[in-house]
Amino acid sequence: MIAAMPLELQERVRARHALDGLPTVALLVQPTPVHEMAALRQALGAGPRLLIKRDDLIGFGFGGNKVRKLALVAARAKEEGCDTLMTTGAVQSNHARVTAAVAAHLGMHCVLVLNGSPPQAPSGNALLDALLGAEIHYVASRTERSVAMGALAERLAERGHRPFVIPLGASTSLGALGYAQAIGELVAQGVVPDVIVHSTSSGGTQAGILAGCAIYDIHPRVVGISADEPPEVLAPFIRTLVEQMGGLLGVPGPALARELEPEVDAAFVGAGYGEPTPASCEAQSLVARTEGVFLDPTYTAKAMAGLIAYVREGRFDDSQTVLFWHTGGLPGLFASTGHPSP
Ligand SMILES: Cc1ncc(COP(=O)(O)O)c(C=O)c1O
Repeated sequence: MIAAMPLELQERVRARHALDGLPTVALLVQPTPVHEMAALRQALGAGPRLLIKRDDLIGFGFGGNKVRKLALVAARAKEEGCDTLMTTGAVQSNHARVTAAVAAHLGMHCVLVLNGSPPQAPSGNALLDALLGAEIHYVASRTERSVAMGALAERLAERGHRPFVIPLGASTSLGALGYAQAIGELVAQGVVPDVIVHSTSSGGTQAGILAGCAIYDIHPRVVGISADEPPEVLAPFIRTLVEQMGGLLGVPGPALARELEPEVDAAFVGAGYGEPTPASCEAQSLVARTEGVFLDPTYTAKAMAGLIAYVREGRFDDSQTVLFWHTGGLPGLFASTGHPSP
């Protein structure tokens, strides 16, 4: 069993109330559409009913899953009287781009610590970061990011600024609650799938979906197709995030995470993070040609490659409804150098 055991009724009511009351920056036009992918299903020679939830169409800052997380995280930064949003990622980070867009929208300064070299001619997310006026610092490797960010935050504070440091991917318990709310949105749309398939990387999206399923008392199988990390790393992290989310909602964390075994499949990463695979390239063109829907190379193409493989291998039942959660990342399609990153 993949989803959490049902919470007590009272706990669910309390958690839903808390989710509805979370301070939020109004960035989203909700609900994002859900539609049938009948032509894709036909191209795959039948199989389960296929739906897609279009968080790529969130709109703000080119959309994607980071907008749901940052709507909550930025509200906390404002509450704390901060004047600067700081975060980290690689040169083509979707999360960095959305953070820069939120900061601009709120009249805040944005500092990004990115691993990689400054691009000669910025493209994709790097181009958008520049347009948004973010202050960008480059470090050579992923491992240097947090230390550099901490040092910069200290320097800013010494100069009288109030920086708010957002960890990688905004995958904190607060950020992840954006996806618990998203499950409420899905249920209000009248959609209760048997399976949800989505891209997973820093774990917040999957943690939020799993917590939301427990809170809204729906029990789909939730399959996170990894863009990089193996299940041994991601699954325990996701579990911990879900437990911590309980604390923010006034329900016992262990109850929210009860019997939770996050399902993470790293079989579609290929040669590495951001490296296209034959299956991810096929998924991108098949979905574009059958549905007119674009997938980004790093996250959603690999997640869709997973869904397609599962259908072809008969790993879903034909009577099931499988929902693909499109998590955005589309500026990555226009990146001429480097690879998008969380
Ligand atoms: C487009 C896109 N999809 C999926 C993910 C994975 O989400 P998470 O980091 O919450 O696991 C990310 C970021 O890492 C992303 O940018």
